[in-house]
Amino acid sequence: MDAGKIAHIQKKLTGPVVLIGLMGAGKTRMGKMLAGALSLAFTDADDVIVERAGMSISEIFERHGEPHFRALEADVMEGLLSQGPGVISPGGGAVMTPSTAGHVFSENVVSVWLHAPIDVLAERVSRNKNRPLMAGVDPTVKLTELMNTRGPVYGRATLRVENGVQSPDDTLEDILSALYTHLTP
Ligand code: S3P
Repeated sequence: MDAGKIAHIQKKLTGPVVLIGLMGAGKTRMGKMLAGALSLAFTDADDVIVERAGMSISEIFERHGEPHFRALEADVMEGLLSQGPGVISPGGGAVMTPSTAGHVFSENVVSVWLHAPIDVLAERVSRNKNRPLMAGVDPTVKLTELMNTRGPVYGRATLRVENGVQSPDDTLEDILSALYTHLTP
């Protein structure tokens, strides 16, 4: 995208851009690229949780259980979302906590649902072992179940961008174009 349009997005953004979607959707990767393109800070909410807890996501689930993880996640998200423009990538389940959904789907936040077909997500998550919800389950079955329960909530996002088989550079362009259109009256 040309520099003039990037400058327009930078000028018009008044709050954070939040990338949501299932595990494997590319939230972290695309979040870093988007932040780079817009010269904004990038925050991966899971990294903040890990730092605060002093242990990995898997360890938090094992030792303290998912409800404890969700409470930590909601607290971290509330803090991150009260800041100004920046790019935030929460874990895929964050917006299932009603208080977090209330913050993410609010006026000054632009939420982007990164969507990809289940088979693409399954292939991506099978390359990474640090996802407790995927431990010992068939990724396709689990991701289908999660898409059914979470899809309606992800559907509340301001924008939806496909991140399936196309290149990350193409997805970045699609996110920037969607943001530009959204921010242009
Ligand atoms: C989760 C997604 C993970 C992480 C945790 C739970 C979920 O983050 O927060 O394992 O409930 O979908 P990613 O979406 O970045 O993999």
